[in-house]
Amino acid sequence: MSMDWATFGLDLHVELDSTSGRRSALESALRESIRDGRLAAQTRLPSTRALAAELDLARGTVSAAYDQLIAEGYLTARTGSGTYVTGLVRAVARPARAVDTSGPAAGPRYDLRPGSPDVTSFPTAAWLRATRRALAEAPMAAYDYGDPRGRIELRTALASYLGRVRGVAATPDRIVVTSGAVQALSLLAGVIGRTAGARIAMEDPGLAFHREVVRRNHVDVMALEVDDRGARTDLLLTSDFTAVRAVVVTASHQYPTGVPLHPQRRDTAAEWARSREGLIIEDDYDGEFRYDRQPIGALQGTAPEQVAYLGTVSKTLGPALRLGWLVLPERLIEPVVEAKRYTDLHTESIGQLALADLITSHAYDRHVRSCRLRYRSRRDLLTGRLEPHAGQRLTLRGIPAGLHAWIDLPAAGPSEHDVLVAGTARGLALGYLSSHWHDPDGRPQGIIVGFGTPSESTYPIALDTLNHVLRRLTLRR
Ligand SMILES: Cc1ncc(COP(=O)(O)O)c(C=O)c1O
Repeated sequence: MSMDWATFGLDLHVELDSTSGRRSALESALRESIRDGRLAAQTRLPSTRALAAELDLARGTVSAAYDQLIAEGYLTARTGSGTYVTGLVRAVARPARAVDTSGPAAGPRYDLRPGSPDVTSFPTAAWLRATRRALAEAPMAAYDYGDPRGRIELRTALASYLGRVRGVAATPDRIVVTSGAVQALSLLAGVIGRTAGARIAMEDPGLAFHREVVRRNHVDVMALEVDDRGARTDLLLTSDFTAVRAVVVTASHQYPTGVPLHPQRRDTAAEWARSREGLIIEDDYDGEFRYDRQPIGALQGTAPEQVAYLGTVSKTLGPALRLGWLVLPERLIEPVVEAKRYTDLHTESIGQLALADLITSHAYDRHVRSCRLRYRSRRDLLTGRLEPHAGQRLTLRGIPAGLHAWIDLPAAGPSEHDVLVAGTARGLALGYLSSHWHDPDGRPQGIIVGFGTPSESTYPIALDTLNHVLRRLTLRR
Protein backbone atom coordinates (compact mmCIF):
# COMPACT_ATOMS: atom_id res chain seq x y z
CA MET A 1 0.00 0.00 0.00
CA SER A 2 1.40 3.38 -0.80
CA MET A 3 0.54 6.68 0.80
CA ASP A 4 0.97 9.91 -1.12
CA TRP A 5 0.08 13.10 0.67
CA ALA A 6 0.77 15.58 -2.10
CA THR A 7 -2.92 16.37 -2.08
CA PHE A 8 -2.62 17.55 1.53
CA GLY A 9 0.15 19.97 0.70
CA LEU A 10 2.69 17.55 2.19
CA ASP A 11 5.18 16.31 -0.34
CA LEU A 12 5.40 12.91 1.25
CA HIS A 13 5.41 9.43 -0.10
CA VAL A 14 5.51 6.48 2.27
CA GLU A 15 5.31 2.78 1.60
CA LEU A 16 2.99 0.95 3.96
CA ASP A 17 4.33 -2.52 4.53
CA SER A 18 1.13 -4.52 4.52
CA THR A 19 2.67 -7.58 6.14
CA SER A 20 2.80 -6.11 9.63
CA GLY A 21 -0.83 -4.99 10.09
CA ARG A 22 -2.29 -1.79 8.73
CA ARG A 23 -2.32 0.21 11.93
CA SER A 24 1.23 -0.64 12.88
CA ALA A 25 2.35 -0.08 9.26
CA LEU A 26 0.85 3.39 9.32
CA GLU A 27 2.42 4.10 12.71
CA SER A 28 5.87 3.04 11.54
CA ALA A 29 5.58 4.99 8.31
CA LEU A 30 4.65 8.14 10.18
CA ARG A 31 7.28 7.58 12.88
CA GLU A 32 10.04 7.17 10.31
CA SER A 33 8.91 10.18 8.34
CA ILE A 34 9.01 12.31 11.48
CA ARG A 35 12.35 10.91 12.56
CA ASP A 36 14.11 11.48 9.30
CA GLY A 37 12.64 14.96 8.96
CA ARG A 38 10.36 14.40 5.98
CA LEU A 39 7.47 15.40 8.20
CA ALA A 40 8.73 18.58 9.82
CA ALA A 41 7.85 19.83 13.29
CA GLN A 42 4.53 21.71 13.50
CA THR A 43 3.21 20.09 10.30
CA ARG A 44 -0.53 19.66 10.52
CA LEU A 45 -1.62 16.12 9.67
CA PRO A 46 -4.72 15.35 7.64
CA SER A 47 -7.83 14.62 9.66
CA THR A 48 -8.37 10.96 10.49
CA ARG A 49 -11.42 10.94 8.18
CA ALA A 50 -9.48 12.40 5.24
CA LEU A 51 -6.49 10.14 5.67
CA ALA A 52 -8.66 7.06 6.11
CA ALA A 53 -10.45 7.87 2.86
CA GLU A 54 -7.19 8.57 1.04
CA LEU A 55 -5.59 5.30 2.15
CA ASP A 56 -8.69 3.20 2.09
CA LEU A 57 -8.35 2.41 5.80
CA ALA A 58 -10.95 2.34 8.54
CA ARG A 59 -11.08 5.68 10.32
CA GLY A 60 -10.55 3.89 13.67
CA THR A 61 -7.24 2.48 12.34
CA VAL A 62 -5.95 5.97 11.60
CA SER A 63 -7.19 7.31 14.96
CA ALA A 64 -5.48 4.47 16.80
CA ALA A 65 -2.21 5.14 14.96
CA TYR A 66 -2.42 8.86 15.77
CA ASP A 67 -3.19 8.07 19.43
CA GLN A 68 -0.17 5.80 19.67
CA LEU A 69 2.13 8.44 18.20
CA ILE A 70 0.65 11.07 20.51
CA ALA A 71 1.44 8.76 23.44
CA GLU A 72 5.01 8.36 22.17
CA GLY A 73 5.42 12.12 21.85
CA TYR A 74 5.73 12.27 18.05
CA LEU A 75 2.39 14.01 17.58
CA THR A 76 0.42 16.56 19.54
CA ALA A 77 -3.36 16.91 19.44
CA ARG A 78 -4.59 20.51 19.67
CA THR A 79 -8.22 20.70 20.64
CA GLY A 80 -10.29 22.06 17.81
CA SER A 81 -7.40 22.52 15.41
CA GLY A 82 -6.10 19.06 14.57
CA THR A 83 -3.02 16.89 15.00
CA TYR A 84 0.49 18.26 14.57
CA VAL A 85 4.01 16.89 14.42
CA THR A 86 5.70 17.64 17.74
CA GLY A 87 8.84 19.77 17.72
CA LEU A 88 11.34 17.10 18.73
CA VAL A 89 14.85 18.27 19.48
CA ARG A 90 17.45 16.69 17.26
CA ALA A 91 20.18 15.57 19.63
CA VAL A 92 23.77 14.75 18.76
CA ALA A 93 25.18 11.49 20.09
CA ARG A 94 28.16 11.62 22.34
CA PRO A 95 30.85 8.94 22.15
CA ALA A 96 30.31 5.61 23.90
CA ARG A 97 30.16 6.15 27.63
CA ALA A 98 32.43 4.17 29.87
CA VAL A 99 31.53 6.44 32.69
CA ASP A 100 29.77 9.63 31.81
CA THR A 101 31.39 12.57 33.54
CA SER A 102 29.78 15.23 31.39
CA GLY A 103 27.73 18.05 32.83
CA PRO A 104 24.03 18.68 32.55
CA ALA A 105 24.07 19.29 28.75
CA ALA A 106 21.19 17.73 26.80
CA GLY A 107 21.93 14.07 26.08
CA PRO A 108 21.04 12.05 23.02
CA ARG A 109 17.36 11.51 22.35
CA TYR A 110 17.74 7.73 22.48
CA ASP A 111 20.49 6.68 24.83
CA LEU A 112 21.47 3.04 24.33
CA ARG A 113 24.99 3.45 25.64
CA PRO A 114 25.99 0.88 28.26
CA GLY A 115 26.96 1.90 31.77
CA SER A 116 23.92 3.17 33.61
CA PRO A 117 20.75 1.54 34.90
CA ASP A 118 17.29 3.05 34.50
CA VAL A 119 17.74 5.73 37.14
CA THR A 120 14.07 6.67 36.86
CA SER A 121 13.34 3.46 38.75
CA PHE A 122 15.40 4.54 41.78
CA PRO A 123 13.34 3.45 44.82
CA THR A 124 12.92 6.96 46.19
CA ALA A 125 10.21 6.09 48.73
CA ALA A 126 12.11 3.08 50.09
CA TRP A 127 15.35 5.09 50.24
CA LEU A 128 13.59 7.87 52.13
CA ARG A 129 12.14 5.41 54.62
CA ALA A 130 15.52 3.75 55.05
CA THR A 131 17.26 7.09 55.57
CA ARG A 132 14.66 8.26 58.06
CA ARG A 133 14.90 5.04 60.06
CA ALA A 134 18.70 5.02 59.87
CA LEU A 135 18.92 8.58 61.16
CA ALA A 136 16.43 7.93 63.94
CA GLU A 137 18.47 4.98 65.15
CA ALA A 138 22.02 6.18 64.44
CA PRO A 139 24.29 6.85 67.42
CA MET A 140 25.65 10.41 67.56
CA ALA A 141 29.09 9.01 66.72
CA ALA A 142 27.78 8.26 63.24
CA TYR A 143 28.05 11.99 62.51
CA ASP A 144 31.72 12.07 63.44
CA TYR A 145 34.82 10.75 61.65
CA GLY A 146 34.58 6.99 61.49
CA ASP A 147 36.30 3.71 60.66
CA PRO A 148 38.09 3.78 57.25
CA ARG A 149 36.43 0.43 56.51
CA GLY A 150 33.01 2.06 56.72
CA ARG A 151 30.01 1.72 59.02
CA ILE A 152 29.76 -1.57 60.87
CA GLU A 153 25.98 -1.64 60.20
CA LEU A 154 26.60 -1.74 56.45
CA ARG A 155 29.53 -4.15 56.60
CA THR A 156 27.43 -6.53 58.70
CA ALA A 157 24.47 -6.26 56.32
CA LEU A 158 26.73 -6.75 53.28
CA ALA A 159 28.51 -9.79 54.74
CA SER A 160 25.23 -11.62 55.07
CA TYR A 161 23.68 -10.33 51.82
CA LEU A 162 26.73 -11.17 49.69
CA GLY A 163 26.96 -14.65 51.21
CA ARG A 164 23.30 -15.34 50.57
CA VAL A 165 22.97 -13.83 47.09
CA ARG A 166 26.43 -14.09 45.51
CA GLY A 167 28.07 -16.92 47.45
CA VAL A 168 30.78 -14.57 48.73
CA ALA A 169 32.70 -15.67 51.82
CA ALA A 170 32.63 -12.43 53.78
CA THR A 171 32.88 -11.25 57.35
CA PRO A 172 32.41 -7.58 58.33
CA ASP A 173 36.12 -7.15 59.21
CA ARG A 174 37.13 -8.09 55.64
CA ILE A 175 34.89 -5.53 54.02
CA VAL A 176 35.90 -1.99 53.09
CA VAL A 177 33.13 0.32 51.91
CA THR A 178 34.33 2.44 49.00
CA SER A 179 33.17 5.22 46.76
CA GLY A 180 32.01 2.88 44.01
CA ALA A 181 33.87 0.03 42.34
CA VAL A 182 36.21 2.56 40.79
CA GLN A 183 37.70 3.55 44.13
CA ALA A 184 38.00 -0.09 45.13
CA LEU A 185 40.03 -0.75 41.98
CA SER A 186 42.11 2.36 42.47
CA LEU A 187 42.99 1.41 46.07
CA LEU A 188 44.03 -2.08 44.99
CA ALA A 189 46.08 -0.79 42.05
CA GLY A 190 47.84 1.61 44.44
CA VAL A 191 48.72 -1.24 46.80
CA ILE A 192 49.90 -3.54 43.95
CA GLY A 193 51.91 -0.67 42.49
CA ARG A 194 54.09 -0.49 45.58
CA THR A 195 56.00 -3.51 44.25
CA ALA A 196 58.44 -2.21 41.65
CA GLY A 197 57.68 -3.49 38.14
CA ALA A 198 54.37 -5.05 39.14
CA ARG A 199 51.79 -5.27 36.39
CA ILE A 200 48.06 -5.86 36.31
CA ALA A 201 46.44 -7.99 33.57
CA MET A 202 43.08 -6.74 32.36
CA GLU A 203 40.55 -8.28 30.02
CA ASP A 204 40.80 -7.39 26.34
CA PRO A 205 38.18 -6.18 25.47
CA GLY A 206 37.31 -4.55 28.76
CA LEU A 207 36.32 -1.24 30.31
CA ALA A 208 38.80 1.42 29.10
CA PHE A 209 37.99 3.67 32.05
CA HIS A 210 39.23 1.01 34.49
CA ARG A 211 42.47 0.56 32.52
CA GLU A 212 43.06 4.28 32.89
CA VAL A 213 42.36 4.07 36.64
CA VAL A 214 45.07 1.41 36.97
CA ARG A 215 47.57 3.35 34.84
CA ARG A 216 47.02 6.49 36.88
CA ASN A 217 48.21 4.49 39.87
CA HIS A 218 51.48 4.05 37.95
CA VAL A 219 50.89 0.38 37.20
CA ASP A 220 51.41 -1.04 33.70
CA VAL A 221 48.45 -2.87 32.22
CA MET A 222 48.79 -6.10 30.23
CA ALA A 223 46.08 -7.20 27.82
CA LEU A 224 44.50 -10.55 28.64
CA GLU A 225 42.65 -12.07 25.71
CA VAL A 226 38.97 -12.97 26.07
CA ASP A 227 37.32 -15.77 24.10
CA ASP A 228 34.00 -17.59 24.31
CA ARG A 229 35.04 -19.03 27.71
CA GLY A 230 35.86 -15.63 29.14
CA ALA A 231 39.30 -14.33 30.10
CA ARG A 232 42.23 -16.56 29.02
CA THR A 233 43.45 -17.08 32.58
CA ASP A 234 45.52 -20.01 31.29
CA LEU A 235 47.86 -17.40 29.76
CA LEU A 236 48.72 -16.09 33.24
CA LEU A 237 50.88 -19.18 33.74
CA THR A 238 53.01 -18.39 30.67
CA SER A 239 56.30 -16.49 30.77
CA ASP A 240 54.79 -13.39 29.13
CA PHE A 241 52.84 -12.74 32.30
CA THR A 242 55.61 -13.25 34.85
CA ALA A 243 55.48 -9.62 36.05
CA VAL A 244 51.73 -9.75 36.55
CA ARG A 245 50.80 -9.45 40.25
CA ALA A 246 47.04 -9.13 39.78
CA VAL A 247 44.37 -9.85 37.19
CA VAL A 248 41.03 -8.04 36.90
CA VAL A 249 38.15 -10.26 35.77
CA THR A 250 34.43 -9.71 35.30
CA ALA A 251 33.81 -13.40 35.99
CA SER A 252 30.00 -13.56 36.15
CA HIS A 253 29.35 -11.51 33.03
CA GLN A 254 32.39 -10.39 31.10
CA TYR A 255 32.28 -6.74 30.21
CA PRO A 256 31.51 -6.13 27.38
CA THR A 257 31.18 -9.57 25.70
CA GLY A 258 28.80 -10.96 28.34
CA VAL A 259 30.37 -14.44 28.56
CA PRO A 260 30.74 -16.00 32.01
CA LEU A 261 34.18 -17.23 33.02
CA HIS A 262 34.31 -20.97 32.32
CA PRO A 263 34.73 -23.16 35.46
CA GLN A 264 38.10 -24.42 34.19
CA ARG A 265 39.30 -20.84 33.69
CA ARG A 266 38.13 -20.01 37.22
CA ASP A 267 40.16 -22.92 38.59
CA THR A 268 43.19 -21.90 36.53
CA ALA A 269 42.97 -18.33 37.83
CA ALA A 270 42.82 -19.56 41.43
CA GLU A 271 45.72 -21.96 40.82
CA TRP A 272 47.80 -19.14 39.29
CA ALA A 273 47.03 -16.88 42.27
CA ARG A 274 47.99 -19.62 44.76
CA SER A 275 51.19 -20.65 43.05
CA ARG A 276 52.43 -17.12 42.17
CA GLU A 277 51.04 -15.17 45.12
CA GLY A 278 48.92 -13.32 42.61
CA LEU A 279 45.66 -11.52 43.27
CA ILE A 280 42.39 -11.95 41.38
CA ILE A 281 40.37 -8.74 41.37
CA GLU A 282 36.79 -9.82 40.72
CA ASP A 283 34.61 -6.98 39.46
CA ASP A 284 31.06 -8.25 40.14
CA TYR A 285 29.39 -5.17 38.69
CA ASP A 286 26.04 -6.68 37.63
CA GLY A 287 25.99 -10.15 39.21
CA GLU A 288 22.38 -9.80 40.41
CA PHE A 289 21.01 -9.49 36.89
CA ARG A 290 21.00 -12.96 35.38
CA TYR A 291 17.82 -13.89 33.55
CA ASP A 292 17.98 -17.41 32.20
CA ARG A 293 19.08 -19.35 35.25
CA GLN A 294 20.34 -18.90 38.79
CA PRO A 295 23.02 -16.22 39.22
CA ILE A 296 26.52 -17.53 38.69
CA GLY A 297 28.15 -17.40 42.12
CA ALA A 298 31.13 -15.19 42.73
CA LEU A 299 34.59 -16.65 42.11
CA GLN A 300 35.58 -15.25 45.51
CA GLY A 301 33.44 -17.89 47.26
CA THR A 302 35.79 -20.64 46.06
CA ALA A 303 39.08 -18.80 46.68
CA PRO A 304 38.60 -16.11 49.36
CA GLU A 305 42.34 -15.77 50.06
CA GLN A 306 43.14 -15.27 46.39
CA VAL A 307 40.34 -12.89 45.41
CA ALA A 308 39.57 -9.25 46.17
CA TYR A 309 35.87 -8.96 45.42
CA LEU A 310 34.40 -5.64 44.16
CA GLY A 311 30.71 -4.81 44.32
CA THR A 312 28.65 -1.70 43.75
CA VAL A 313 25.13 -0.30 43.88
CA SER A 314 25.69 1.53 40.60
CA LYS A 315 23.58 -0.96 38.60
CA THR A 316 21.09 -1.95 41.29
CA LEU A 317 20.26 1.49 42.71
CA GLY A 318 22.15 4.18 40.86
CA PRO A 319 25.70 5.46 40.26
CA ALA A 320 24.90 8.73 42.05
CA LEU A 321 25.16 7.05 45.46
CA ARG A 322 28.84 6.24 44.84
CA LEU A 323 28.62 3.25 47.15
CA GLY A 324 30.71 0.18 46.55
CA TRP A 325 32.63 -2.39 48.57
CA LEU A 326 35.62 -4.63 48.68
CA VAL A 327 35.82 -8.05 50.30
CA LEU A 328 39.50 -8.65 50.92
CA PRO A 329 41.85 -11.55 51.54
CA GLU A 330 43.39 -11.37 55.03
CA ARG A 331 46.80 -10.17 53.82
CA LEU A 332 45.34 -7.13 52.04
CA ILE A 333 43.12 -5.80 54.82
CA GLU A 334 45.76 -3.68 56.51
CA PRO A 335 47.33 -2.08 53.37
CA VAL A 336 43.97 -1.38 51.74
CA VAL A 337 42.48 0.10 54.92
CA GLU A 338 45.53 2.36 55.20
CA ALA A 339 45.23 3.36 51.55
CA LYS A 340 41.56 4.19 52.12
CA ARG A 341 42.38 6.25 55.22
CA TYR A 342 44.91 8.35 53.31
CA THR A 343 42.59 8.76 50.34
CA ASP A 344 39.44 10.13 51.97
CA LEU A 345 39.36 8.88 55.60
CA HIS A 346 36.19 6.94 54.89
CA THR A 347 33.14 6.95 52.67
CA GLU A 348 30.25 9.22 53.62
CA SER A 349 28.38 7.59 56.53
CA ILE A 350 24.70 8.52 56.21
CA GLY A 351 24.22 6.84 52.84
CA GLN A 352 25.92 3.75 54.26
CA LEU A 353 23.42 3.64 57.11
CA ALA A 354 20.52 4.01 54.69
CA LEU A 355 21.87 1.21 52.50
CA ALA A 356 22.35 -1.01 55.56
CA ASP A 357 18.70 -0.45 56.46
CA LEU A 358 17.56 -1.08 52.89
CA ILE A 359 19.41 -4.42 52.88
CA THR A 360 18.35 -5.64 56.32
CA SER A 361 14.69 -4.72 55.73
CA HIS A 362 14.85 -6.71 52.44
CA ALA A 363 13.66 -3.66 50.52
CA TYR A 364 16.93 -3.99 48.55
CA ASP A 365 16.06 -7.60 47.55
CA ARG A 366 12.58 -6.51 46.49
CA HIS A 367 13.96 -3.66 44.43
CA VAL A 368 16.57 -5.87 42.74
CA ARG A 369 13.91 -8.47 41.98
CA SER A 370 11.59 -5.95 40.38
CA CYS A 371 14.48 -4.43 38.38
CA ARG A 372 15.47 -7.91 37.22
CA LEU A 373 11.98 -8.49 35.87
CA ARG A 374 11.93 -5.12 34.14
CA TYR A 375 15.38 -5.57 32.58
CA ARG A 376 14.50 -9.07 31.55
CA SER A 377 11.50 -7.81 29.61
CA ARG A 378 13.69 -5.09 28.09
CA ARG A 379 16.16 -7.77 27.07
CA ASP A 380 13.29 -9.78 25.54
CA LEU A 381 12.04 -6.74 23.66
CA LEU A 382 15.54 -6.17 22.31
CA THR A 383 15.86 -9.72 21.03
CA GLY A 384 12.27 -9.73 19.75
CA ARG A 385 12.66 -6.53 17.79
CA LEU A 386 16.19 -6.94 16.56
CA GLU A 387 16.67 -10.59 15.76
CA PRO A 388 14.04 -10.99 13.03
CA HIS A 389 15.61 -8.11 11.16
CA ALA A 390 19.19 -8.95 11.95
CA GLY A 391 18.79 -12.31 10.20
CA GLN A 392 21.99 -14.05 9.25
CA ARG A 393 24.06 -10.92 9.13
CA LEU A 394 24.01 -9.64 12.69
CA THR A 395 24.22 -11.68 15.87
CA LEU A 396 23.07 -10.48 19.24
CA ARG A 397 25.35 -11.73 22.04
CA GLY A 398 25.74 -11.58 25.80
CA ILE A 399 22.02 -11.56 26.51
CA PRO A 400 21.56 -14.03 29.41
CA ALA A 401 22.54 -11.39 31.96
CA GLY A 402 23.25 -7.76 32.70
CA LEU A 403 22.10 -4.51 31.19
CA HIS A 404 23.78 -4.67 27.82
CA ALA A 405 24.16 -6.89 24.78
CA TRP A 406 26.45 -6.66 21.81
CA ILE A 407 26.07 -7.11 18.12
CA ASP A 408 28.93 -8.27 15.90
CA LEU A 409 29.59 -6.19 12.86
CA PRO A 410 31.25 -8.66 10.46
CA ALA A 411 33.86 -7.18 8.10
CA ALA A 412 31.51 -7.55 5.11
CA GLY A 413 28.77 -5.51 6.77
CA PRO A 414 28.44 -1.94 8.03
CA SER A 415 31.29 -0.57 10.14
CA GLU A 416 31.03 1.04 13.58
CA HIS A 417 31.55 4.36 11.85
CA ASP A 418 28.60 3.73 9.49
CA VAL A 419 26.37 2.92 12.48
CA LEU A 420 27.65 5.93 14.42
CA VAL A 421 26.90 8.32 11.55
CA ALA A 422 23.46 6.87 10.78
CA GLY A 423 22.56 6.59 14.49
CA THR A 424 23.70 10.11 15.36
CA ALA A 425 21.56 11.52 12.57
CA ARG A 426 18.56 10.00 14.36
CA GLY A 427 19.53 11.04 17.85
CA LEU A 428 20.68 7.54 18.79
CA ALA A 429 23.72 6.94 21.00
CA LEU A 430 25.31 3.47 21.28
CA GLY A 431 28.45 1.89 22.69
CA TYR A 432 31.13 0.56 20.36
CA LEU A 433 33.42 -2.42 20.75
CA SER A 434 36.45 -0.53 19.42
CA SER A 435 36.62 1.66 22.50
CA HIS A 436 36.97 -1.47 24.64
CA TRP A 437 40.02 -3.05 22.95
CA HIS A 438 43.42 -2.30 24.42
CA ASP A 439 44.51 -1.68 20.82
CA PRO A 440 41.57 -1.46 18.41
CA ASP A 441 43.73 -1.68 15.28
CA GLY A 442 42.46 -4.57 13.15
CA ARG A 443 40.20 -5.92 15.91
CA PRO A 444 36.60 -6.98 15.29
CA GLN A 445 33.97 -4.27 15.41
CA GLY A 446 30.61 -4.34 17.14
CA ILE A 447 27.90 -2.34 18.78
CA ILE A 448 27.21 -2.45 22.50
CA VAL A 449 23.56 -1.87 23.27
CA GLY A 450 22.87 -0.75 26.83
CA PHE A 451 19.22 -1.34 27.61
CA GLY A 452 19.22 0.07 31.13
CA THR A 453 19.31 3.80 30.50
CA PRO A 454 16.21 4.80 28.50
CA SER A 455 13.02 5.44 30.39
CA GLU A 456 10.21 2.92 29.95
CA SER A 457 8.45 5.18 27.46
CA THR A 458 11.41 5.94 25.20
CA TYR A 459 12.89 2.44 25.17
CA PRO A 460 10.63 0.97 22.45
CA ILE A 461 11.23 4.02 20.24
CA ALA A 462 14.97 3.76 20.84
CA LEU A 463 14.84 0.13 19.68
CA ASP A 464 12.80 1.03 16.62
CA THR A 465 15.38 3.64 15.75
CA LEU A 466 18.22 1.15 16.18
CA ASN A 467 16.34 -1.36 14.09
CA HIS A 468 15.77 1.18 11.38
CA VAL A 469 19.44 2.18 11.30
CA LEU A 470 20.69 -1.41 11.16
CA ARG A 471 18.14 -2.53 8.60
CA ARG A 472 19.00 0.31 6.28
CA LEU A 473 22.71 -0.27 6.60
CA THR A 474 22.54 -4.05 6.18
CA LEU A 475 20.09 -3.95 3.28
CA ARG A 476 22.31 -1.51 1.48
CA ARG A 477 25.09 -4.13 1.32
C1 LIG B 1 32.68 -3.23 34.22
C2 LIG B 1 32.14 -2.29 35.24
N1 LIG B 1 32.53 -2.39 36.50
C3 LIG B 1 32.05 -1.56 37.46
C4 LIG B 1 31.15 -0.58 37.17
C5 LIG B 1 30.60 0.29 38.26
O1 LIG B 1 31.52 1.18 38.73
P1 LIG B 1 31.17 2.17 39.92
O2 LIG B 1 30.74 1.38 41.11
O3 LIG B 1 32.45 2.88 40.16
O4 LIG B 1 30.10 3.09 39.47
C6 LIG B 1 30.73 -0.42 35.86
C7 LIG B 1 29.78 0.66 35.52
O5 LIG B 1 29.54 0.99 34.39
C8 LIG B 1 31.23 -1.30 34.87
O6 LIG B 1 30.83 -1.19 33.59
